[in-house]
Parts: sequence; C-alpha cells; structure tokens
Amino acid sequence: MELNLLVFCYLLGSVTFIVGLKMLSNPVSARNGNLVAAAGMFVAIMGTIFLYEDEGKKLGNYGWIFAALVIGTIVGTLMAKRVKMTAMPEMVSLFNGMGGACAALISVIEFRHLIHGYDPATYASTGYSFFSSLDGTTMLIIFLGLIIGTVSFSGSMIAWGKLNGKIKDFAFKGQHIINLVILVLNIAIAAFIIVARPEETPLFFYAILLLSILYGVFFVLPIGGADMPVVISLLNSFTGVAAACGGFLYDNKVMLTGGILVGAAGTLLTMLMCKAMNRSLSNVLIGSFGGGAVASGGAGPQGGTYKEISLSDAAVVMSYANKVMIVPGYGLAVAQAQHICHELEKTLEAKGVEVKYAIHPVAGRMPGHMNVLLAEADVSYEKLLEMELANEEFKSTDVVLILGANDVVNPAAKSDPSSPIYGMPILEVEQAKHVIVNKRSMKPGYAGIENQLFFQPKTSMLFGDAKKALQDLLAEVRSI
Ligand code: TAP
Repeated sequence: MELNLLVFCYLLGSVTFIVGLKMLSNPVSARNGNLVAAAGMFVAIMGTIFLYEDEGKKLGNYGWIFAALVIGTIVGTLMAKRVKMTAMPEMVSLFNGMGGACAALISVIEFRHLIHGYDPATYASTGYSFFSSLDGTTMLIIFLGLIIGTVSFSGSMIAWGKLNGKIKDFAFKGQHIINLVILVLNIAIAAFIIVARPEETPLFFYAILLLSILYGVFFVLPIGGADMPVVISLLNSFTGVAAACGGFLYDNKVMLTGGILVGAAGTLLTMLMCKAMNRSLSNVLIGSFGGGAVASGGAGPQGGTYKEISLSDAAVVMSYANKVMIVPGYGLAVAQAQHICHELEKTLEAKGVEVKYAIHPVAGRMPGHMNVLLAEADVSYEKLLEMELANEEFKSTDVVLILGANDVVNPAAKSDPSSPIYGMPILEVEQAKHVIVNKRSMKPGYAGIENQLFFQPKTSMLFGDAKKALQDLLAEVRSI
C-alpha cells in the first residue's frame, strides 16, 4: 500500500515537472509554473523520506535529513529574495553547480557501496571479489554521473566567479588540446576500471574525480564573461543528465524524469541562444567575441558623425507621436530603469500615444532577461512584441526609443558579411521615422563592434545613464 502511495507521489512529481515546464514558456503563467513544479518536488521528496523502504527498512536519519532541509531552505530563500535581476545568471550558476555536486556525490557514495558493500564487514571478508562480480552497466552509470556532475559543478563555480567579477578570463596556448587530453584520459580510466577491475580501483576512481574537476575549470576559464549564459545553460543540461544517472542507479522514476527534462531543456535553450546570436556552440566555447573586446570606437564608419538630441526635443517628438516603440537592452537592466520606463509609457499613453516594447530574444544577458525585467515593473505582457512582430510594426512607428541596447539593433548583422554578428536576426529599427538611442557613450556593446545605426540621419543620441535620462525625459514629457 505504502509502495503504491510512493509510486503515486513520484508520478505526481513527474507530471508537475512537465506541466510546470510547459507553464514556464509563457510569462503570464511562468510564476505559477515554477510553484507547480516546486510543489511536485516537495511531494516527491516527502514521499521518499517517509514512504521509501528497502527490505522493510525506512530511511531513518531524520535528524540529519531535516537539518539539511531547513538549512537549505533558509539559505535558498534568502538568496533568491535578495538577488538583483542583473545578478540572476550568477545565482543560477551557483545553484546549478550545487545540483552537479549532488549528482556527483551520488556516484561517489554508490561507488563506495559497490566496493565496500553497504556493510563494511562485507568488504573486510570478501575484498574486491564482491566488486568484480558487479555488472558493468551500473559502473558505467556511476562513472557517467561522476564525470558529468563534477564537470558541471566545477564549471559552474568558475562561471559564478567570473560573473561576479572574482575570476578573470584566463586562457593559454594549447588549452583546448589539454582539455581534450583530460577528457580522453577520463574515459580511458573509466573503461579500464569497468573492463579490468584492477586492485587499485579506488585510486583510479578518485583520479577521475580530480580530472573531472580540472576539466570543468579549464573548460569554462577561457570563455568570455558575457558568453556565460550560454555556458551556464549547457552546464545546466549536464546537471540534468548527471541527475538522470542517479535516477537510473536508484531506479527512481521521478529523478529520472526530472533529470531528463532538465537535460533536454538545457540543451534546447543552449541551441536557441546560439541560433538567436547566429553563432555555433563551438564558436561560443572557443570564443570569437564576448570576451569584453573593445572596438575601435570614436569616429563613425567612414568618418561619419552622430547627432545628439536634447531632452526637451526628445520629449516633444515622443509626445506628439502616434506610436512609440521602446527597445530595451542590457543597459536598461544595468541602470535598473524598468520602473521609470513604465512610468514614461503610462504618461505617453495618457497623452494618446500608443506605446509598445520590441523584445529581441538575446537582448540583455540571459534568456528572457527583458521579459522578466519589464514584468517586474508591471508592464503589461500584451505590450511586449517578439522580434518578428516588432519588425512588421516598425514601418508604422513614429519614434523608436532604444534604451541601453546596441548589438540587437546593429544593421551590420544584415549588411556587413565581415561583421562577427553577420546573420544574427536584429530589430530593424531603422524602418521607423525617428530613432532615439539612449546610452552613456559611443562605446560598443557586448560584441565589441561599432554600430552604424548611431550615425544614420534619422538617429539621434540621448547620452546618459538610462535611469537618470528617463527620469529627466519623463519630467519634460509631463511638462508638455
Ligand atoms: P549590448 O549590445 O551589450 O549593449 C548594451 C549597451 O548598453 C552598451 O552599448 C552600453 O553602452 C549601454 N549601457 C550600459 N550601461 C548603461 C546604462 N547604465 N545606461 C544606459 N546605457 C547603458 O546589449 P544588447 O543590445 O541588449 O545585446 C545583448 C548582447 O548580449 C548581444 O550581443 C547578445 O548576443 C549577447 N548575449 C545575450 C544573451 C542572452 S540570452 N540575452 C546571452 C549571451 C550573450 P555605454 O557603455 O555607452 O553606455
């Protein structure tokens, strides 16, 4: 009866993961989707703690289990509540690293069980003869979980350090060869243990653990800081696969389902991000831009010049427009200007101006960055246009207001085959009547390249920090 109840808990958990994931695909239902999946996870965990039995024995160790649960809940809640939107990728990275470590620890523990037996006395009496009778598949899964989980852990820790500025990009000649050697060595040692079952097995096992830590470190260290979201998403899929290995080991269906879902979702997200940047995964991993490179800057293309617009002129142009399209970018997130941006939107609408937002899939530094940011400021979801739709509407737009966006509106992506972003789909803002660009300087964005849009006759620059510029602009608009 209890076993059936446990199976039901796992089924419920698996279903909530799938439903929750589906709900995450829409900003309106995303928050509830998260709660649905979390509730399912809670049921599955409680089911395991109270209902799981092995040969009539319950889990026990309740003191340890609940102490860990309470500590984890308090730390996780505090961190999630305090995190700033711009620091979200680094927190995801940290949490993902913990997931990878858990999956790797399962492999370590199960390996110890394999060679020592659940009872140390078994090992004392039988030595490795117990180990040599074990099937290769179990060992293969243990090694897979160990390698993938450990790489995810050490890689995520480096990504976390890079995103919070504590670790600098580091690369040396031949690094990719060394990575390859470490990987091949790891696979060779694992295969050797499975096939030969040598006396020194524990030594080889911990060598794999060490090499996997090194691989994760070397794999992430050279990647440009701004490419971290793609790498974190990839590491996220690694954690999912490592957790699925744990599900195989324990024959635990909910762990298997959860792991596979995370693995598949992480892989898809990685591919989607690469596609939206028009870059291959290998290009991101080996890195051709995104490492904070600084472009030539200064003068415009072929010595072109840019023009500035005053706050009062910008306010007049926008107040008398029929339709204004706001293009948010990374700078808006840095300046935390989303609330004041929403204020400007409401004020313009009160004057009869139609205001919408054009959202590029990789605007900002993480998937859905702009959607989350604007949702935080209570901007209505109906006002957010995806790139394809926005591109159709620019023709009928009077003023485009670009707030801290750069690469995602760079026409070189369409017109300059030598540009590193050539082929990346962009927001075609130059189709509108006027373009106002707010940023602090003429410095390039993430790709480190110049933007010809800033030098076009219909473009005007409104320099300054996005929050301050919007506050001043709002005051001007209100005074008209
Ligand atoms: P960027 O091209 O990085 O441009 C952001 C601009 O914001 C900069 O040119 C900067 O110019 C300006 N800025 C910075 N702080 C500001 C502030 N306080 N006030 C006003 N402006 C400020 O950003 P984007 O257009 O959003 O493009 C995103 C880039 O990130 C793309 O190249 C994309 O491929 C890459 N990327 C995105 C993702 C995801 S999933 N979103 C993942 C990896 C990479 P100043 O310094 O002159 O102010």
